[in-house]
Amino acid sequence: MAKPKVLMTRKIPVEGFEIVRGCSDLEVWEGDGSVPRRIIIEKIPDKEGLFCLLTDEIDAELLDRAPRLRVISTMAVGCDHIDVQECTRRGIPVGHTPDVLTESTADFAFALLMTAARRVVEAVDYVKAGRWETWSPTLFLGRDIHRATIGIVGFGRIGRAMARRATGFGMRVLVFHHEPIKSDAEFGVRVQPGDLDFVLKDSDFLTLHVPLTPETYHLIGEKELQRMKKTAVLINTARGSVVDSKALYQALRDGGIAYAALDVMEPEPIHMDEPLLSLPNCLIAPHIASASVATRAQMAVMAAENLKAGLQGERLPHCANPEVYRTR
Ligand code: DGY
Repeated sequence: MAKPKVLMTRKIPVEGFEIVRGCSDLEVWEGDGSVPRRIIIEKIPDKEGLFCLLTDEIDAELLDRAPRLRVISTMAVGCDHIDVQECTRRGIPVGHTPDVLTESTADFAFALLMTAARRVVEAVDYVKAGRWETWSPTLFLGRDIHRATIGIVGFGRIGRAMARRATGFGMRVLVFHHEPIKSDAEFGVRVQPGDLDFVLKDSDFLTLHVPLTPETYHLIGEKELQRMKKTAVLINTARGSVVDSKALYQALRDGGIAYAALDVMEPEPIHMDEPLLSLPNCLIAPHIASASVATRAQMAVMAAENLKAGLQGERLPHCANPEVYRTR
């Protein structure tokens, strides 16, 4: 029997690739970088499965070209690049990769926090530039992390993983979450929940862990940045558009806050004329918070298993739109 046709929009770690290859008649975009949208549109009409990445925008226009599509699987936890509602309306389950990247993402967010607090990038650049002439009592003074206050915006899996790390560093942990937080004991860490204003005003480090939705778009803008301490550090490993980057640029340039460490940008990839790139107090990484060898392999396998289940007409193990099964 002929295997179902699948389009994969980029080569993925081999552990997941082999699963997809084994269960489908696979076509893979082999080009450099992300697949141009016109290529997906050209190749999608006869495909029953789509394996995509967060760099691919999957919207109604594209779905209109995909009459045979039965499953979409993205190798990401965040599905803001997919019109999930539209997929549900069309009866297409969308697979994603929650849980497996939680700890690696929190590791990296904490690495950004520490790098920013102790000015690691500036110091390393200074040495490489041959400017290290003597030990100085005032060279690259940074901020202590231990006993500082961290504000966690979004207390889902990654936010809670950040709270555990912060607790290990003896930090006071403030949390803003869109729903009431149950007892501390449930998460094994002591946190102080509060509204966004409280968290903004009291935090030395503010770290963002919310999905991108219409409600969180530019959640941190001019007004919110003005509420923060002038010494505060902002860490974003969520989605670039959660922060208004123009407002952030002004706050960093004018001393409204001290530092920003960003793993995500609006848009991605960054434009080289992005003003934030010109600031010494802004560190930008290329969306790599989940990029450990083990985690990316697990993400690839999870996404592959989702796709396979969809092709076989089974319920996806990790479905971003479980309501799709109710509308069938
Ligand atoms: C995701 O999965 O949504 C991350 O941003 C990339 O790992």
